[in-house]
Amino acid sequence: MSTPHIDAAPGAFADTVLLPGDPLRARHIATTLLDAAVPVTARRNMLGYTGHYRGRRVSVMGSGMGIPSCAIYATELVRVYGVRRLIRVGTCGGVGAVRLGELLLAQSASTDSRFNRLAFGDMDLAACADFGLLRASVDAAHRLGIPARVAPIFSTDSFYAGTTGWLDWLRRHRIAGVEMEAAGLYGLAMREGVQALAILTVSDHLDNDTHLSAAEREQDLGRMAQLALECALSTPA
Ligand code: HPA
Repeated sequence: MSTPHIDAAPGAFADTVLLPGDPLRARHIATTLLDAAVPVTARRNMLGYTGHYRGRRVSVMGSGMGIPSCAIYATELVRVYGVRRLIRVGTCGGVGAVRLGELLLAQSASTDSRFNRLAFGDMDLAACADFGLLRASVDAAHRLGIPARVAPIFSTDSFYAGTTGWLDWLRRHRIAGVEMEAAGLYGLAMREGVQALAILTVSDHLDNDTHLSAAEREQDLGRMAQLALECALSTPA
């Protein structure tokens, strides 16, 4: 069995898949945090692995950048490989009061993408995280002593060309971060009847153009991935 974009064997993925945007991050998470991780797919170099975290079978796979790429992989994982929990681990630009390096647990994702409208009669879907996963992430953050903020975020289709004044609109609506995948991931999870959550590190601040260093990003990736893996333990095996 394979799909147009994933060449894994049937049953190759666990129930829970972590989705970093970058496939090399998927490899890094698999090799540093999973036990006995094996590669399961590498089509288009979009690497995927399955291993164990504290005895629980878990997978990690790159999603690529942007809603279209992420949605292709997520849809095939759910429909063809029976995946039930999708946890994005990524970075975002911070807006307003959030600080560089802060972790956001994305409660909802507004968007300038038409992706969900295409499947929702051209209406506005309130794209939101699965409550069980969100609660599990809050509990795990408390348990591990990892500071994290539950917050609404915004998924944009355009990394470079925001409309004039758009940051003001985001601030006015208490949006805390900007990334490029969560709204699509949440919408498709709602349609497919599976659970999704995005856990994001504030890697840049959009108000003052500051950035985390490469070393800080690396450390934050480990923390985010650990938090996501703890969420995988929150449901019965
Ligand atoms: N915009 C969109 N996606 C991002 C950003 C950003 O500023 N930072 C990290 N991912």
